[in-house]
Amino acid sequence: MSVMAHTDRVLSGIQPTADSFHIGNYLGALRSWVELQDTHEAFYTVVDQHAITVEYDPAELRQRTLVSFAQLLACGVDPERSVLFVQSHVPEHAQLAWVLSCITGYGEASRMTQFKDKSARDGTGAVSVGLFTYPVLMAADILVYQATGVPVGEDQRQHLELTRGLAQRFNARFGETFVVPEPLILKDTAKIKDLQEPTAKMSKSLPGGCVMLLDDPKKIAKKIKSAVTDSETVVRFDPETKPGVSNLLTILSALSGRTISELESHYEGSMYGPLKVDVADAVVEFATTYQSRTNEYLQDPAELHRLMELGAQKAREVATRTLADVYNRVGFVAIK
Ligand code: TYM
Repeated sequence: MSVMAHTDRVLSGIQPTADSFHIGNYLGALRSWVELQDTHEAFYTVVDQHAITVEYDPAELRQRTLVSFAQLLACGVDPERSVLFVQSHVPEHAQLAWVLSCITGYGEASRMTQFKDKSARDGTGAVSVGLFTYPVLMAADILVYQATGVPVGEDQRQHLELTRGLAQRFNARFGETFVVPEPLILKDTAKIKDLQEPTAKMSKSLPGGCVMLLDDPKKIAKKIKSAVTDSETVVRFDPETKPGVSNLLTILSALSGRTISELESHYEGSMYGPLKVDVADAVVEFATTYQSRTNEYLQDPAELHRLMELGAQKAREVATRTLADVYNRVGFVAIK
């Protein structure tokens, strides 16, 4: 029996490691999750097991997982059309990750730049083996659903290359088992930059320049209005020499649907102030709806739990089949 996908299928995940998703998460990944529901069979997951690879607080993780799930619903992930679930509700991810870790080279895993960055930044001296094997769990998240595409931001590209390599290696050694997935990376918004350090990617680890979508709108506007730009006064898109202004144009273009060149002509002859005001207005308008929808879902925890159960059940229908196939191929004895 082949468990390979017959239609185009996407899978993606997001970590519940902050009190809110940020505008980079939305523009780089989540908005394409929503669009892909129209054309693909979609699996989307809140990856709580990835969130315990670094220091964390259990009560906070539980709350953040609920809030993350609600935010995905608020963005427009439709639990009737797509499979929306929490990673730890589907034990097959961790089970497949073990098998995959046994075909992953130690050197290969050591080359993951995100691990190198995160472990270098860790001041506690307590970097976990879980953080090291994190990309293998991510590969399992994807391969267990036989996903053909994975919508992510640019920072996940190397993890996807590892995933593809593992799928190919497993297939070569044990026979065709996994679909080899393609990265689906949005061209224009794959790397939204930090507002204070516009050469770095926006990330919750640099809170000063990161726009959290559940933050108070006044705080959001203030952060945008104090974004670092440059000493010229020309609104022009040039990520190399004008990373701050280019980042603001990218955000405004994505939220307003206006092209970058339209925006450049619109701000011709004007200073940066009006651009910042318009970006702030656009983000605040988006965040206001986002917040009220998220809060509506959070006000009904019973419904959230019902949706989590529904998602887990649908996810397991696929995941258990892949895992059974894998266990058989690697030589584990089956019992009824
Ligand atoms: P995470 O939780 O850090 O981020 C979720 C998604 O947001 C994208 N992203 C960005 N895109 C553009 N600009 C930015 N500044 C920016 N910051 C974040 C990320 O690329 C990601 O798509 N390892 C993953 C979670 C994961 C996963 C998976 C993803 C676990 N298993 C399986 C896909 C498939 C992560 O930490 O994403």
